[in-house]
Amino acid sequence: MSAAPLAVVGNPAGRRVTLFQEAVRARGLPPARVVAWREVLDGGAVFHAGETVRIDSPGEDPEVERLLRGVSDPTRVEGTGRWYRRFTEAVDAVAGAVAEAGGRLLTGPADLRVLFDKRRCHQVLERAGLPVPPSPTSGPAAPPVRGWADVRELLARPGLRRMFVKLAHGSSASGVLALESGPGGRVRATTSVERLPSGALHNSLHVRRYEDERVIGAVVDALAPDGLHVERWLPKASQRGRSADLRVVTVAGRATHAVVRTAPGPMTNLHLGGARGDLDAAVAAVGAAGGSWEHDALAVCERAAAAFPATLCVGVDLLPATGWRRFAVGEVNAFGDLLPGLTGLPGTTAAGLDTYAAQLDAVLPSARQDPHAPRATCPRP
Ligand SMILES: Nc1ncnc2c1ncn2[C@@H]1O[C@H](COP(=O)(O)OP(=O)(O)O)[C@@H](O)[C@H]1O
Ligand SMILES: [Mg+2]
Repeated sequence: MSAAPLAVVGNPAGRRVTLFQEAVRARGLPPARVVAWREVLDGGAVFHAGETVRIDSPGEDPEVERLLRGVSDPTRVEGTGRWYRRFTEAVDAVAGAVAEAGGRLLTGPADLRVLFDKRRCHQVLERAGLPVPPSPTSGPAAPPVRGWADVRELLARPGLRRMFVKLAHGSSASGVLALESGPGGRVRATTSVERLPSGALHNSLHVRRYEDERVIGAVVDALAPDGLHVERWLPKASQRGRSADLRVVTVAGRATHAVVRTAPGPMTNLHLGGARGDLDAAVAAVGAAGGSWEHDALAVCERAAAAFPATLCVGVDLLPATGWRRFAVGEVNAFGDLLPGLTGLPGTTAAGLDTYAAQLDAVLPSARQDPHAPRATCPRP
């Protein structure tokens, strides 16, 4: 077994670190050393010689959120531009300290810079020849979207009458609007953003609709200084009357885990009322439509992951078009592996393993050959 000690940069009390440590324990390894994001942001993080270091999400800690975004209320939407600058600086500091200690990073700092900018991520995927929703904002010559006036103009373009407007550095559906323009210039927005009478924007667990252009415009104008990404709204396939997409996790470049997410509205994020759907039914639907699950779905995710070669694990949001025959990559998530209880795809090296155990398996390959090493397995959800 590899002798390299493990460290994880994360939030010690968060679910991600807890689940990672469970996988470490199940593997018979001593616990990973946890380097708290608070320590990193205070400039006090230290890395030890020869450590293998996983960088995990700075989420799940309101104090860390406050330090990164500069807002005292973590439910506020604003501040993601500053979050991005501080987060990427902090990642660079971690990378420098790990390199100095002669350690190894499992998450690439340059990859993170791209993964946390939806415009750059889209551009990188498009250049790699991957199917992505058409976007007027991700090309090198694309003008920035400065506010509602720009978005209104884009909405009038063919192919963009239904569009997604997203915070460039957002995640968990924060600051995402699905916009539709109708006859007579009417506009409708479906979003998790709640705008208070004071004008403050909050993330809400309830998806709501706005039909008053003044309100929609005010929301977009308030989001714009943090950076916006715009792309065509692709009509998604459905399952039992709900819109569906897939989260596919890759480990060391291979698609290892997949889950269908379904929701009554256009956003499938699980905390917004999205639910896990039926993967077998999705695989069957792809086959019935004349497609290949391996080639049209999983291989696309592996090609998307290949654009981030310095990162062990990514979570690909794969959007199936109506009819389950064609797919587009919605985004790639650096911290897309929080899928408790989900075991790996049958026939892969991750079969029977959760996402964390599968990552350990990939970095500690010799452990697999030890017949006495306990395996981290989870019951099927
Ligand atoms: N272009 C699109 N067409 C259709 N649905 C989309 C599109 N972009 C995003 N979505 C849906 O919106 C949700 C959130 O978008 P996403 O880009 O994944 O942002 P986040 O980082 O906040 O999760 C996803 O669940 C996805 O299904
Ligand atoms: Mg997403």
